[in-house]
Amino acid sequence: MGKLDGKVAVVTGAARGIGREYAHRLAKLGADVGVIDINLKSYEEFSGEDIGKEFETVVDELKSLNVQAVGFEADISDEAAVTNAFQRIQGTLGDVDILIANAGGGTGAITENAASEINPDQLEIVLKRNFYGTVYSVKSVVDQMKKKKYGKIVTVTSVTGLKASDTGTYSHYAATKAAIVNYTKNLAQDLGQYNITVNAIAPGYIGTGRLLEQFEKAGKESYENETALKRLGTPEDCARVIEFLSTDLSDYVTGTVIDVTGGLLR
Ligand SMILES: NC(=O)c1ccc[n+]([C@@H]2O[C@H](COP(=O)([O-])OP(=O)(O)OC[C@H]3O[C@@H](n4cnc5c(N)ncnc54)[C@H](O)[C@@H]3O)[C@@H](O)[C@H]2O)c1
Repeated sequence: MGKLDGKVAVVTGAARGIGREYAHRLAKLGADVGVIDINLKSYEEFSGEDIGKEFETVVDELKSLNVQAVGFEADISDEAAVTNAFQRIQGTLGDVDILIANAGGGTGAITENAASEINPDQLEIVLKRNFYGTVYSVKSVVDQMKKKKYGKIVTVTSVTGLKASDTGTYSHYAATKAAIVNYTKNLAQDLGQYNITVNAIAPGYIGTGRLLEQFEKAGKESYENETALKRLGTPEDCARVIEFLSTDLSDYVTGTVIDVTGGLLR
């Protein structure tokens, strides 16, 4: 018996990286899982994300864990495409109990987009991907959650949404992640009456296939030393918190942000 037997979860941006680990964790707990990603084979872009020859996508990996799984390609910043993907998931797996609105990311180098020099075109892309994408995902599940009087919504912010960087760069991304924090808190107030919890996870330096390449290039040790725990985080570190926020362990927890940063915030 898994804690999430009979539940349906959707993880956006789960074709690789931290989202893929979230999907694995929820499936191992017994949930049927729907995946939405702009590219279900995005793992091919980074050797550290290799999923082996046995599986074509994360959806096959999930099925091998003896749960039902489906995946649809959609750009999370396109409302009609998002609505359609959620409808197709609901049509196959049933009403969604758990939403992990994980799809997101920045543009350009981390040395660019200083707060005084934000590139408006990049800001628009990142705002749509991170903030609008989260809003569209929530809107796609919230009516049926209200009807069922049950739901667990987890949004994904970042340490950059909670504090400024030393240099004030990558601030376009940071501002959109900060917007998600405030949205999460308001959403928790709005949906509490329906027994729907809404919380955010704020990862720090997490060693995904994509970021490990960047950390190695820039000198991994300096990132490790910034943390209290003197190591990078792993997708598993984040998935453990998702387990907490998706199960009854967090039934009286709403409107919070849990930072999974190894102590970057001080
Ligand atoms: N890795 C970290 O250290 C870290 C730190 C803080 C926050 N985060 C956040 O965690 C989430 C996952 O990060 P990650 O490092 O695993 O990222 P990643 O880039 O490795 O994976 C992101 C996934 O989302 C998909 N995606 C990107 N844009 C999309 C779009 N417009 N529509 C649908 N899917 C889209 C990609 O195809 C990819 O599969 C993101 O929201 C990111 O901002 C990550």
